Amino acid sequence: MLELFDIQSFVFQAFGKSFRGWYAFLQFDNDQMEKNLDWLKSQLAYVAGVDDETKMLDREALEYYLVMGFTHSGLEKLGIGIKGSRPYRKPFSEAFMEGMVERAEILGDKPDSWEWGGKEETEPHLVLAMFANENEFENKKSDFKKAYEQAGFKEVRAVEGYSHKDLREHFGFADGISQPLIEGFHDSIDKNNLCEPGEFVLGYRNERGVYPESALVEHNNESGEFDLGKNGSFMVVRQLEQDAERFRAGNPREVDAAKLIGRWRSGAPLTLCPFNDNIKLKENNSFTYFQHDRYGMKCPIGSHIRRSNPRDNKFSLNDHEDRERTQALNKRHRIIRRGRLYGPEVPKEFYEGANTLDPKKPHESRGTLFICLNASIENQFEFVMQNWINRKDFNGLRNELDPLSTVDEEENRHFTTPGMPKTERRQLQQYVTMRGGAYFFLPGMRALRFIVSGFNPV
Ligand code: HEM
Repeated sequence: MLELFDIQSFVFQAFGKSFRGWYAFLQFDNDQMEKNLDWLKSQLAYVAGVDDETKMLDREALEYYLVMGFTHSGLEKLGIGIKGSRPYRKPFSEAFMEGMVERAEILGDKPDSWEWGGKEETEPHLVLAMFANENEFENKKSDFKKAYEQAGFKEVRAVEGYSHKDLREHFGFADGISQPLIEGFHDSIDKNNLCEPGEFVLGYRNERGVYPESALVEHNNESGEFDLGKNGSFMVVRQLEQDAERFRAGNPREVDAAKLIGRWRSGAPLTLCPFNDNIKLKENNSFTYFQHDRYGMKCPIGSHIRRSNPRDNKFSLNDHEDRERTQALNKRHRIIRRGRLYGPEVPKEFYEGANTLDPKKPHESRGTLFICLNASIENQFEFVMQNWINRKDFNGLRNELDPLSTVDEEENRHFTTPGMPKTERRQLQQYVTMRGGAYFFLPGMRALRFIVSGFNPV
Protein backbone atom coordinates (compact mmCIF):
# COMPACT_ATOMS: atom_id res chain seq x y z
CA MET A 1 0.00 0.00 0.00
CA LEU A 2 1.19 3.50 -0.84
CA GLU A 3 2.42 5.51 2.18
CA LEU A 4 0.68 8.62 0.95
CA PHE A 5 1.48 10.75 4.02
CA ASP A 6 5.20 10.26 3.30
CA ILE A 7 5.17 11.22 -0.40
CA GLN A 8 5.43 14.87 -1.52
CA SER A 9 1.97 15.74 -2.79
CA PHE A 10 3.40 17.10 -6.07
CA VAL A 11 3.60 13.50 -7.28
CA PHE A 12 -0.19 13.28 -7.18
CA GLN A 13 -1.36 16.82 -7.90
CA ALA A 14 -0.14 19.84 -9.79
CA PHE A 15 -1.66 22.61 -7.60
CA GLY A 16 -4.55 24.11 -9.51
CA LYS A 17 -4.40 26.81 -12.14
CA SER A 18 -5.41 29.40 -9.51
CA PHE A 19 -1.96 28.82 -7.96
CA ARG A 20 1.20 30.42 -9.29
CA GLY A 21 4.57 28.84 -8.74
CA TRP A 22 7.91 30.44 -7.89
CA TYR A 23 10.64 27.97 -8.80
CA ALA A 24 13.83 28.97 -7.01
CA PHE A 25 16.97 27.13 -8.10
CA LEU A 26 19.47 27.68 -5.32
CA GLN A 27 22.99 26.93 -4.13
CA PHE A 28 24.09 26.35 -0.56
CA ASP A 29 26.81 28.62 0.79
CA ASN A 30 29.68 26.60 2.31
CA ASP A 31 30.32 29.36 4.86
CA GLN A 32 26.69 29.64 5.94
CA MET A 33 25.64 26.01 5.94
CA GLU A 34 24.18 26.09 9.45
CA LYS A 35 22.06 29.12 8.62
CA ASN A 36 20.99 27.52 5.32
CA LEU A 37 19.85 24.36 7.10
CA ASP A 38 18.11 26.16 9.96
CA TRP A 39 15.94 27.99 7.47
CA LEU A 40 15.27 24.87 5.40
CA LYS A 41 14.13 23.15 8.59
CA SER A 42 11.65 25.96 9.19
CA GLN A 43 10.27 25.36 5.67
CA LEU A 44 9.50 21.68 6.19
CA ALA A 45 6.13 22.72 7.61
CA TYR A 46 5.13 23.86 4.12
CA VAL A 47 5.92 20.63 2.32
CA ALA A 48 2.71 18.64 2.35
CA GLY A 49 2.09 14.93 1.99
CA VAL A 50 -1.24 13.38 1.07
CA ASP A 51 -3.95 12.23 3.44
CA ASP A 52 -4.46 8.45 3.28
CA GLU A 53 -8.23 8.61 3.32
CA THR A 54 -9.23 11.79 1.51
CA LYS A 55 -6.31 11.61 -0.93
CA MET A 56 -6.06 15.39 -0.59
CA LEU A 57 -3.29 17.48 0.97
CA ASP A 58 -2.72 16.34 4.55
CA ARG A 59 -2.57 19.92 5.86
CA GLU A 60 -5.08 22.60 6.61
CA ALA A 61 -4.77 25.57 4.28
CA LEU A 62 -1.20 26.83 4.50
CA GLU A 63 0.16 30.25 3.61
CA TYR A 64 1.95 28.60 0.68
CA TYR A 65 2.98 25.11 -0.38
CA LEU A 66 6.48 23.96 -1.09
CA VAL A 67 8.06 21.25 -3.18
CA MET A 68 11.65 20.54 -2.09
CA GLY A 69 14.25 18.67 -4.13
CA PHE A 70 18.03 18.26 -4.32
CA THR A 71 20.51 17.65 -7.10
CA HIS A 72 23.18 15.08 -6.41
CA SER A 73 25.76 17.81 -5.93
CA GLY A 74 23.38 19.38 -3.41
CA LEU A 75 23.20 16.12 -1.45
CA GLU A 76 26.99 15.89 -1.57
CA LYS A 77 27.24 19.38 -0.05
CA LEU A 78 25.17 18.04 2.84
CA GLY A 79 27.58 15.17 3.38
CA ILE A 80 25.76 12.39 1.56
CA GLY A 81 27.78 10.36 -0.89
CA ILE A 82 30.92 8.45 -1.54
CA LYS A 83 33.23 10.94 0.15
CA GLY A 84 30.73 12.38 2.62
CA SER A 85 30.13 11.98 6.33
CA ARG A 86 27.07 9.89 5.45
CA PRO A 87 28.46 7.30 2.99
CA TYR A 88 26.33 5.16 0.73
CA ARG A 89 25.61 1.53 1.36
CA LYS A 90 24.03 1.66 -2.06
CA PRO A 91 24.28 4.75 -4.26
CA PHE A 92 21.61 6.45 -6.34
CA SER A 93 21.20 5.59 -10.03
CA GLU A 94 23.93 6.71 -12.40
CA ALA A 95 21.87 9.31 -14.28
CA PHE A 96 20.97 11.18 -11.10
CA MET A 97 24.50 11.04 -9.70
CA GLU A 98 26.00 12.29 -12.96
CA GLY A 99 23.43 15.04 -13.44
CA MET A 100 21.84 16.45 -16.60
CA VAL A 101 25.03 18.09 -17.91
CA GLU A 102 26.97 14.83 -17.99
CA ARG A 103 24.10 13.24 -19.88
CA ALA A 104 24.24 15.83 -22.68
CA GLU A 105 25.04 13.30 -25.38
CA ILE A 106 22.05 11.16 -24.51
CA LEU A 107 19.77 14.19 -24.44
CA GLY A 108 21.19 16.02 -27.47
CA ASP A 109 22.11 19.04 -25.30
CA LYS A 110 24.81 21.69 -25.48
CA PRO A 111 25.16 22.79 -21.84
CA ASP A 112 27.89 25.37 -22.64
CA SER A 113 25.24 27.59 -24.15
CA TRP A 114 22.71 27.27 -21.32
CA GLU A 115 21.82 30.30 -19.22
CA TRP A 116 21.94 28.25 -16.03
CA GLY A 117 22.75 24.74 -14.86
CA GLY A 118 25.46 24.14 -17.46
CA LYS A 119 28.49 25.06 -15.34
CA GLU A 120 29.52 24.57 -11.74
CA GLU A 121 28.83 28.24 -10.90
CA THR A 122 25.26 27.97 -12.11
CA GLU A 123 24.43 24.40 -11.19
CA PRO A 124 21.68 24.40 -8.53
CA HIS A 125 21.99 22.34 -5.35
CA LEU A 126 18.32 22.44 -4.60
CA VAL A 127 14.96 23.58 -5.90
CA LEU A 128 12.23 25.13 -3.82
CA ALA A 129 9.00 25.46 -5.74
CA MET A 130 6.63 27.74 -3.83
CA PHE A 131 2.93 27.71 -4.78
CA ALA A 132 0.54 30.41 -3.61
CA ASN A 133 -2.91 31.53 -4.60
CA GLU A 134 -2.92 33.92 -7.56
CA ASN A 135 -4.25 36.92 -5.57
CA GLU A 136 -1.65 36.59 -2.79
CA PHE A 137 1.21 35.48 -4.97
CA GLU A 138 3.16 38.75 -5.37
CA ASN A 139 3.51 39.30 -1.62
CA LYS A 140 4.27 35.70 -0.84
CA LYS A 141 6.86 35.59 -3.58
CA SER A 142 8.78 38.65 -2.41
CA ASP A 143 8.71 37.53 1.26
CA PHE A 144 9.85 34.07 0.27
CA LYS A 145 12.67 35.36 -1.92
CA LYS A 146 13.84 37.71 0.82
CA ALA A 147 13.78 34.85 3.32
CA TYR A 148 16.01 32.49 1.32
CA GLU A 149 18.41 35.29 0.46
CA GLN A 150 18.67 36.26 4.13
CA ALA A 151 19.26 32.62 4.99
CA GLY A 152 22.38 32.79 2.82
CA PHE A 153 21.28 30.90 -0.31
CA LYS A 154 22.49 31.98 -3.73
CA GLU A 155 19.83 32.05 -6.43
CA VAL A 156 21.13 30.73 -9.75
CA ARG A 157 17.74 31.11 -11.45
CA ALA A 158 14.16 31.76 -10.45
CA VAL A 159 11.20 31.25 -12.76
CA GLU A 160 7.64 32.38 -12.20
CA GLY A 161 5.38 29.68 -13.59
CA TYR A 162 1.68 29.92 -14.33
CA SER A 163 -1.06 28.08 -16.16
CA HIS A 164 -2.96 29.70 -19.01
CA LYS A 165 -6.63 30.14 -18.14
CA ASP A 166 -7.56 27.67 -20.92
CA LEU A 167 -4.57 25.47 -20.06
CA ARG A 168 -2.90 26.30 -23.40
CA GLU A 169 0.84 26.34 -23.93
CA HIS A 170 2.51 29.20 -25.84
CA PHE A 171 1.99 27.68 -29.31
CA GLY A 172 -1.73 27.76 -28.55
CA PHE A 173 -2.43 24.06 -27.85
CA ALA A 174 -4.22 22.59 -24.86
CA ASP A 175 -1.59 20.94 -22.68
CA GLY A 176 -1.55 18.51 -19.77
CA ILE A 177 -4.22 16.17 -21.17
CA SER A 178 -2.53 12.79 -21.30
CA GLN A 179 -1.06 11.75 -17.97
CA PRO A 180 -0.35 8.29 -16.59
CA LEU A 181 -2.41 7.25 -13.56
CA ILE A 182 -1.02 5.57 -10.46
CA GLU A 183 -2.37 2.21 -9.36
CA GLY A 184 -3.42 2.45 -5.71
CA PHE A 185 -4.08 6.17 -5.92
CA HIS A 186 -6.30 6.68 -8.97
CA ASP A 187 -9.38 4.58 -9.61
CA SER A 188 -9.46 3.83 -13.28
CA ILE A 189 -10.52 1.12 -15.62
CA ASP A 190 -8.26 2.54 -18.32
CA LYS A 191 -5.61 -0.14 -17.99
CA ASN A 192 -3.41 1.37 -20.68
CA ASN A 193 -2.90 4.46 -18.57
CA LEU A 194 -2.80 2.88 -15.15
CA CYS A 195 0.81 2.24 -14.10
CA GLU A 196 2.32 0.51 -11.10
CA PRO A 197 3.38 3.06 -8.43
CA GLY A 198 7.03 2.02 -8.78
CA GLU A 199 7.09 3.84 -12.12
CA PHE A 200 6.93 7.12 -10.21
CA VAL A 201 7.70 6.51 -6.54
CA LEU A 202 10.69 4.62 -5.10
CA GLY A 203 9.95 1.75 -2.77
CA TYR A 204 7.17 0.08 -4.82
CA ARG A 205 7.05 -2.42 -7.66
CA ASN A 206 7.17 -1.01 -11.17
CA GLU A 207 5.84 -2.29 -14.50
CA ARG A 208 8.73 -4.74 -14.72
CA GLY A 209 7.63 -6.23 -11.39
CA VAL A 210 10.77 -5.04 -9.59
CA TYR A 211 11.65 -2.18 -7.25
CA PRO A 212 13.31 0.86 -8.82
CA GLU A 213 16.87 1.55 -7.73
CA SER A 214 16.94 3.32 -4.38
CA ALA A 215 19.84 4.70 -2.31
CA LEU A 216 20.85 3.54 1.15
CA VAL A 217 23.11 5.50 3.49
CA GLU A 218 24.80 4.46 6.71
CA HIS A 219 22.83 5.19 9.84
CA ASN A 220 23.16 4.55 13.56
CA ASN A 221 19.90 2.63 13.82
CA GLU A 222 19.54 -1.15 14.26
CA SER A 223 19.91 -2.06 10.62
CA GLY A 224 22.82 0.36 10.23
CA GLU A 225 21.26 1.96 7.17
CA PHE A 226 18.59 4.43 6.09
CA ASP A 227 16.60 4.12 2.87
CA LEU A 228 16.97 7.60 1.43
CA GLY A 229 14.98 6.80 -1.69
CA LYS A 230 11.83 5.35 -0.13
CA ASN A 231 8.75 7.37 -1.14
CA GLY A 232 10.83 9.77 -3.22
CA SER A 233 10.68 10.59 -6.92
CA PHE A 234 13.07 12.08 -9.47
CA MET A 235 12.12 15.42 -10.94
CA VAL A 236 13.53 16.53 -14.29
CA VAL A 237 13.49 20.28 -14.96
CA ARG A 238 14.16 21.88 -18.36
CA GLN A 239 13.62 25.54 -19.16
CA LEU A 240 12.41 25.43 -22.77
CA GLU A 241 12.10 28.75 -24.56
CA GLN A 242 9.39 28.85 -27.24
CA ASP A 243 9.44 31.02 -30.34
CA ALA A 244 5.70 31.55 -30.83
CA GLU A 245 6.10 33.89 -33.82
CA ARG A 246 8.34 31.48 -35.66
CA PHE A 247 5.96 28.62 -34.97
CA ARG A 248 3.02 30.53 -36.38
CA ALA A 249 4.92 31.83 -39.39
CA GLY A 250 6.16 28.32 -40.22
CA ASN A 251 2.72 26.73 -39.83
CA PRO A 252 0.15 29.20 -41.10
CA ARG A 253 -2.60 26.62 -41.66
CA GLU A 254 -4.29 25.15 -38.60
CA VAL A 255 -3.88 21.68 -39.99
CA ASP A 256 -0.10 22.06 -40.39
CA ALA A 257 0.31 23.06 -36.77
CA ALA A 258 -2.04 20.32 -35.56
CA LYS A 259 -0.15 17.65 -37.49
CA LEU A 260 3.08 18.60 -35.70
CA ILE A 261 1.50 18.18 -32.30
CA GLY A 262 -0.93 15.30 -33.02
CA ARG A 263 -3.87 17.16 -31.49
CA TRP A 264 -5.89 20.19 -32.58
CA ARG A 265 -5.66 23.36 -30.52
CA SER A 266 -8.63 22.34 -28.38
CA GLY A 267 -6.75 19.13 -27.53
CA ALA A 268 -8.93 16.90 -29.72
CA PRO A 269 -6.73 14.05 -31.05
CA LEU A 270 -6.16 13.90 -34.82
CA THR A 271 -6.45 10.15 -34.60
CA LEU A 272 -10.13 10.51 -33.74
CA CYS A 273 -10.98 13.65 -35.78
CA PRO A 274 -8.44 14.03 -38.60
CA PHE A 275 -10.20 16.70 -40.68
CA ASN A 276 -11.41 19.35 -38.23
CA ASP A 277 -11.05 20.34 -34.61
CA ASN A 278 -13.89 18.94 -32.53
CA ILE A 279 -14.41 20.57 -29.17
CA LYS A 280 -16.39 17.55 -27.94
CA LEU A 281 -13.21 15.49 -28.10
CA LYS A 282 -10.99 18.08 -26.41
CA GLU A 283 -9.96 15.98 -23.44
CA ASN A 284 -10.22 12.64 -25.14
CA ASN A 285 -7.34 10.34 -24.41
CA SER A 286 -8.86 6.95 -25.22
CA PHE A 287 -7.29 6.14 -28.51
CA THR A 288 -4.53 3.93 -29.76
CA TYR A 289 -2.56 4.14 -32.97
CA PHE A 290 -2.32 0.57 -34.19
CA GLN A 291 -6.04 0.19 -34.13
CA HIS A 292 -7.13 3.65 -35.27
CA ASP A 293 -4.31 4.94 -37.42
CA ARG A 294 -1.58 2.43 -38.03
CA TYR A 295 0.29 4.27 -40.82
CA GLY A 296 -0.10 7.80 -39.49
CA MET A 297 -2.58 8.92 -42.15
CA LYS A 298 -4.49 10.83 -39.46
CA CYS A 299 -1.83 11.57 -36.86
CA PRO A 300 1.67 11.56 -38.38
CA ILE A 301 4.15 9.05 -36.95
CA GLY A 302 6.58 11.90 -36.19
CA SER A 303 4.08 14.16 -34.38
CA HIS A 304 4.98 15.24 -30.85
CA ILE A 305 2.41 13.11 -29.03
CA ARG A 306 3.06 10.02 -31.10
CA ARG A 307 6.79 10.21 -30.46
CA SER A 308 6.53 11.05 -26.75
CA ASN A 309 4.05 8.23 -26.09
CA PRO A 310 3.73 5.80 -29.02
CA ARG A 311 1.06 3.80 -27.11
CA ASP A 312 0.53 0.56 -29.08
CA ASN A 313 2.23 1.84 -32.20
CA LYS A 314 4.71 -0.54 -33.71
CA PHE A 315 4.97 -0.81 -37.42
CA SER A 316 5.93 -4.38 -37.95
CA LEU A 317 3.42 -6.01 -35.64
CA ASN A 318 0.23 -7.42 -36.96
CA ASP A 319 -1.49 -9.57 -34.42
CA HIS A 320 -3.49 -8.64 -31.40
CA GLU A 321 -1.26 -10.31 -28.86
CA ASP A 322 1.79 -8.36 -29.96
CA ARG A 323 -0.12 -5.12 -29.81
CA GLU A 324 -0.92 -5.74 -26.15
CA ARG A 325 2.72 -6.55 -25.52
CA THR A 326 3.81 -3.28 -27.16
CA GLN A 327 1.41 -1.40 -24.97
CA ALA A 328 2.66 -3.15 -21.84
CA LEU A 329 6.28 -2.32 -22.73
CA ASN A 330 5.31 1.27 -23.46
CA LYS A 331 4.04 1.63 -19.87
CA ARG A 332 7.63 1.30 -18.67
CA HIS A 333 8.45 4.67 -20.20
CA ARG A 334 5.71 6.99 -19.02
CA ILE A 335 6.36 10.29 -17.26
CA ILE A 336 4.13 12.53 -15.14
CA ARG A 337 4.28 16.06 -16.54
CA ARG A 338 4.07 19.00 -14.15
CA GLY A 339 5.32 21.90 -16.31
CA ARG A 340 4.17 25.52 -16.26
CA LEU A 341 4.40 28.49 -18.60
CA TYR A 342 6.72 31.40 -18.00
CA GLY A 343 7.03 34.80 -19.70
CA PRO A 344 4.28 36.90 -21.27
CA GLU A 345 1.11 35.09 -22.24
CA VAL A 346 0.37 34.75 -25.97
CA PRO A 347 -3.14 36.08 -26.59
CA LYS A 348 -5.61 33.69 -28.19
CA GLU A 349 -6.21 36.19 -31.02
CA PHE A 350 -2.63 35.68 -32.17
CA TYR A 351 -3.48 32.15 -33.27
CA GLU A 352 -6.70 33.29 -34.82
CA GLY A 353 -4.78 35.55 -37.19
CA ALA A 354 -4.42 38.90 -35.37
CA ASN A 355 -0.94 40.30 -35.24
CA THR A 356 -1.12 41.02 -31.53
CA LEU A 357 2.44 40.14 -30.64
CA ASP A 358 3.59 43.70 -31.00
CA PRO A 359 6.94 43.78 -32.86
CA LYS A 360 7.65 47.23 -31.37
CA LYS A 361 7.71 45.87 -27.86
CA PRO A 362 11.10 44.73 -26.59
CA HIS A 363 11.51 41.00 -27.02
CA GLU A 364 10.74 39.11 -23.86
CA SER A 365 11.46 35.43 -23.74
CA ARG A 366 8.67 32.98 -22.98
CA GLY A 367 8.44 29.24 -22.76
CA THR A 368 7.61 26.19 -20.72
CA LEU A 369 9.33 25.21 -17.53
CA PHE A 370 9.14 21.54 -18.43
CA ILE A 371 8.95 19.34 -15.34
CA CYS A 372 8.46 15.62 -15.21
CA LEU A 373 8.46 13.00 -12.48
CA ASN A 374 9.67 9.43 -12.76
CA ALA A 375 11.26 6.69 -10.66
CA SER A 376 13.99 5.92 -13.20
CA ILE A 377 15.51 8.81 -15.14
CA GLU A 378 17.25 6.29 -17.41
CA ASN A 379 14.19 4.20 -18.28
CA GLN A 380 11.71 7.01 -18.48
CA PHE A 381 12.75 10.60 -19.23
CA GLU A 382 16.05 9.73 -20.93
CA PHE A 383 14.53 6.80 -22.78
CA VAL A 384 11.78 9.03 -24.19
CA MET A 385 14.31 11.66 -25.25
CA GLN A 386 16.85 9.32 -26.79
CA ASN A 387 14.67 6.68 -28.42
CA TRP A 388 11.60 8.62 -29.37
CA ILE A 389 11.88 12.45 -29.35
CA ASN A 390 15.39 12.78 -30.77
CA ARG A 391 15.52 9.55 -32.73
CA LYS A 392 16.08 10.38 -36.39
CA ASP A 393 14.82 7.02 -37.68
CA PHE A 394 11.91 6.75 -35.22
CA ASN A 395 9.44 4.12 -36.43
CA GLY A 396 10.70 4.07 -39.99
CA LEU A 397 11.16 7.83 -40.45
CA ARG A 398 14.29 9.15 -42.10
CA ASN A 399 16.40 11.96 -40.72
CA GLU A 400 13.66 13.63 -38.67
CA LEU A 401 13.33 14.98 -35.15
CA ASP A 402 10.36 15.68 -32.94
CA PRO A 403 9.01 19.07 -34.15
CA LEU A 404 9.50 20.42 -30.59
CA SER A 405 12.95 18.90 -30.12
CA THR A 406 15.63 21.21 -28.71
CA VAL A 407 18.39 19.67 -30.80
CA ASP A 408 20.08 22.48 -32.65
CA GLU A 409 20.03 21.19 -36.25
CA GLU A 410 17.99 23.34 -38.59
CA GLU A 411 18.96 21.86 -41.96
CA ASN A 412 17.96 18.37 -40.86
CA ARG A 413 14.63 19.19 -39.39
CA HIS A 414 12.10 17.48 -41.64
CA PHE A 415 8.57 16.38 -41.03
CA THR A 416 6.58 13.80 -42.97
CA THR A 417 2.80 13.96 -43.23
CA PRO A 418 1.55 10.69 -44.69
CA GLY A 419 -1.47 11.17 -46.92
CA MET A 420 -3.48 9.92 -49.89
CA PRO A 421 -2.83 10.48 -52.72
CA LYS A 422 0.34 12.27 -51.65
CA THR A 423 2.71 12.07 -48.70
CA GLU A 424 4.32 15.41 -47.92
CA ARG A 425 7.75 16.00 -46.50
CA ARG A 426 8.65 19.51 -45.47
CA GLN A 427 11.47 21.34 -43.75
CA LEU A 428 10.85 22.75 -40.27
CA GLN A 429 12.65 25.29 -38.16
CA GLN A 430 13.72 25.06 -34.55
CA TYR A 431 10.91 26.37 -32.36
CA VAL A 432 12.16 25.37 -28.92
CA THR A 433 15.51 26.18 -27.29
CA MET A 434 16.94 24.68 -24.13
CA ARG A 435 17.97 27.37 -21.60
CA GLY A 436 18.94 25.32 -18.58
CA GLY A 437 17.95 22.47 -16.33
CA ALA A 438 18.89 19.81 -13.83
CA TYR A 439 17.90 16.49 -12.28
CA PHE A 440 16.48 16.68 -8.76
CA PHE A 441 15.45 14.12 -6.19
CA LEU A 442 12.24 14.85 -4.26
CA PRO A 443 12.70 12.86 -1.05
CA GLY A 444 9.79 11.38 0.87
CA MET A 445 8.83 13.37 3.98
CA ARG A 446 10.79 11.14 6.39
CA ALA A 447 13.89 11.29 4.22
CA LEU A 448 13.47 15.05 3.84
CA ARG A 449 13.49 15.51 7.62
CA PHE A 450 16.49 13.18 7.87
CA ILE A 451 18.46 15.15 5.26
CA VAL A 452 17.59 18.63 6.48
CA SER A 453 17.92 17.90 10.18
CA GLY A 454 21.53 16.74 9.87
CA PHE A 455 20.73 12.99 9.78
CA ASN A 456 19.12 12.77 13.19
CA PRO A 457 16.98 9.71 13.73
CA VAL A 458 13.47 10.31 12.41
C1 HEM B 1 8.21 23.53 -25.14
C2 HEM B 1 8.20 22.25 -25.31
C3 HEM B 1 6.95 21.41 -25.34
C4 HEM B 1 5.67 21.76 -25.68
C5 HEM B 1 5.17 23.11 -26.15
C6 HEM B 1 4.86 20.57 -25.53
C7 HEM B 1 3.50 20.52 -25.82
C8 HEM B 1 2.72 19.39 -25.71
C9 HEM B 1 1.33 19.30 -26.08
C10 HEM B 1 0.51 20.45 -26.64
C11 HEM B 1 0.91 18.04 -25.83
C12 HEM B 1 -0.48 17.46 -26.10
C13 HEM B 1 -1.43 17.59 -24.95
C14 HEM B 1 -1.29 16.61 -23.85
O1 HEM B 1 -1.52 15.41 -24.01
O2 HEM B 1 -0.95 17.05 -22.75
C15 HEM B 1 2.06 17.32 -25.29
C16 HEM B 1 2.04 16.01 -24.88
C17 HEM B 1 3.13 15.33 -24.37
N1 HEM B 1 4.42 15.81 -24.26
FE1 HEM B 1 5.04 17.63 -24.74
N2 HEM B 1 5.66 19.55 -25.11
C18 HEM B 1 6.95 20.01 -24.98
C19 HEM B 1 8.06 19.30 -24.60
C20 HEM B 1 8.06 17.98 -24.23
C21 HEM B 1 9.21 17.24 -23.82
C22 HEM B 1 10.64 17.75 -23.74
C23 HEM B 1 8.76 15.99 -23.50
C24 HEM B 1 9.57 14.79 -23.02
C25 HEM B 1 10.29 14.21 -22.62
C26 HEM B 1 7.34 15.95 -23.70
C27 HEM B 1 6.53 14.87 -23.44
C28 HEM B 1 5.18 14.82 -23.69
C29 HEM B 1 4.36 13.66 -23.41
C30 HEM B 1 4.81 12.36 -22.77
C31 HEM B 1 3.07 13.99 -23.84
C32 HEM B 1 1.83 13.09 -23.76
C33 HEM B 1 1.69 12.28 -25.01
C34 HEM B 1 0.54 11.30 -24.91
O3 HEM B 1 0.47 10.59 -23.92
O4 HEM B 1 -0.26 11.25 -25.83
N3 HEM B 1 6.95 17.19 -24.14
N4 HEM B 1 3.15 18.16 -25.24
